[in-house]
Amino acid sequence: MEIVRTIRDLRTCVQNWHKAGQSVGLVPTMGGLHDGHLSLIAKSNNHADKTVASLFVNPSQFAPHEDFATYPRDETGDLSKFESSGADLIFAPNVAEIYPDGHSTKIEVQGISQVLEGEFRPHFFSGVATVVAKLLLQALPDVAIFGEKDYQQLCVIKSMARDLDIPVEIIGAATVREGDGLAMSSRNNYLNPEERAVAPALYRIISEIAENVRGGQHPAAQRPWAEAELTKAGFGAVDYVAVRDAETLEPVNDASRPARVLAAAWLGSTRLIDNVSV
Ligand code: PAJ
Repeated sequence: MEIVRTIRDLRTCVQNWHKAGQSVGLVPTMGGLHDGHLSLIAKSNNHADKTVASLFVNPSQFAPHEDFATYPRDETGDLSKFESSGADLIFAPNVAEIYPDGHSTKIEVQGISQVLEGEFRPHFFSGVATVVAKLLLQALPDVAIFGEKDYQQLCVIKSMARDLDIPVEIIGAATVREGDGLAMSSRNNYLNPEERAVAPALYRIISEIAENVRGGQHPAAQRPWAEAELTKAGFGAVDYVAVRDAETLEPVNDASRPARVLAAAWLGSTRLIDNVSV
């Protein structure tokens, strides 16, 4: 496995593979790796001959009050996990390589990035769309893999790649969970033992909502029940619990089209998000 830190070296490697007729998959990450991230490497290896993973904690997707400074960083540990999961090349740039002095372009995906997460983290999707567009144009992979764990992020990236005519296929990968149902996340490490014991209730409750909506209950009727259940389980503020169209993320009235239950709620000072299909 090779490690490169410049866009120039990244391009040289990928161009050499393409010249040799090999297809390339890209897996963007911010490190703090767990089995969820590694499942994306496996999926990329199933879709492409070579896999590039990026390791970059992107400052532009963190608001000033968020955890950019304390975000889990363990490059040595992450590199060995990437290596054992079968990545071929790691792109680990520093901030100046991605945002040199004078960098002044931002990508805004209207509509789909303004609801749900967008209401609570207004800066977030612009930071994600900008860095992912840059990574896609830097690497020019044939496919790029993103987790359904961040379902709205996956939708935003699909819209962005389509709107900007970036020649890549965006592929979603199923959420990898702990044995008790909690979606794996680098931020789960922030939970204390009591919070960790409460955390799986989020998945249990959104799964029950999916079941209720499949059974014919009205999506809008789910929120008060879900909020009460989350509070009873030990959660703090509930940012949203919503049943939305799986493609547009617009509100739905029934399960006649593919739908998704999405939720975000606080456990102490940690914000958890999760989603399931209806
Ligand atoms: P990060 O949180 O490191 O996640 C990297 C990728 O791993 C994302 O596509 C995310 O959806 C996926 N992922 C995280 N937890 C997962 C799980 N439990 N199961 C399956 N996939 C999971 O998301 C980001 O970084 C950043 O926003 C990024 C796209 C890299 C742009 O900076």
